[in-house]
Amino acid sequence: MLSNVVSSQVPLHERFGGIVPEIAARRHAEIITRIIDRALREANVELSDLDAIAVTNRPGLIGALLVGVEAAKALAFVAQKPLVPVHHIEGHILAPSLAHPVPFPHVCLTVAGGHTLLVLVREGWKMEVLGSTLDDAVGEAYDKVAKLLGLGFPGGPVIDRLANEWEGEPVEFPRPMVQADNYDFSFAGLKTAVRYYLERNADNYAVGAVAAGFQIAAVETLLAKTFRAAEAFRVQAVTVTGGVSANRYLRRRVAEEAQKRGMEAFVPPLSLCTDNGAMIAAVGYRRWLRGELADWTLTASPSAPIEGF
Ligand code: KG4
Ligand code: ZN
Repeated sequence: MLSNVVSSQVPLHERFGGIVPEIAARRHAEIITRIIDRALREANVELSDLDAIAVTNRPGLIGALLVGVEAAKALAFVAQKPLVPVHHIEGHILAPSLAHPVPFPHVCLTVAGGHTLLVLVREGWKMEVLGSTLDDAVGEAYDKVAKLLGLGFPGGPVIDRLANEWEGEPVEFPRPMVQADNYDFSFAGLKTAVRYYLERNADNYAVGAVAAGFQIAAVETLLAKTFRAAEAFRVQAVTVTGGVSANRYLRRRVAEEAQKRGMEAFVPPLSLCTDNGAMIAAVGYRRWLRGELADWTLTASPSAPIEGF
């Protein structure tokens, strides 16, 4: 990995309490050429040195994706390089392997702002989706609970910090769907339980106790299903990836649960957990080797299933 430049838009969206798609797309258009220049400069390479140009074109906010797709097309056209379309979540799934060699087969838990996905990953990056969220993604639940508590956006890091600092008893919240006999998730109910708790206890609750209670319920649910899948499919390793895998409690607990079972847990460093270009290049490289290229009609899609290899 020669460079991995990330431009965060958090300050632009903070005051709206969530991502505003139109603002996101415009900011992408303003900054993308500068980010590409910086990535090349930090890597100390010229455009002509590249073998191919990979771009994530699915799934996600369509305006933002289109800016990336059009920039990649222009670059590939000018430099006469192959153009490789990449699924965003496949990028998250490959991210842990950029930091450590991850053995196959393994179970991958992707926890991001828009996605919660449990995937069985076999030799050669063959992917089988075992479960996903039926309603809110876990990152979305973090963000909504933070909003209910009057904390800033994005909510994940703030809840993480407050929960860590809380030394008293956490509030007991239900573990959503832990018992259910499948690998799907549902976090809308947990968010509603938090809302009812806040309404019932009006001015009489400790923010830290709620943050800690919510975090414990969310993380325990994620890990219960992840390790149930790991045992059922007899894998020796699990990976956790996506923005929420920056969470310190989740990182600590996944390591403990893996150790208990004699398994290995791989959680990439923070710079590879949240959205980044390196993970897209990792998938793009493998697709390029297989000749899976796009032509100039490439476009973006807001939703798309993961395919694997
Ligand atoms: O993967 P990501 O950067 O973007 C998407 O593809 O969605 O994930 C963003 C999500 C946000 O919901 C944010 O609140 C959450 O990751 N997040 C965290 C933490 N840091 C970021 N959630 C919990 N604990 C954190 N430390
Ligand atoms: Zn993401």
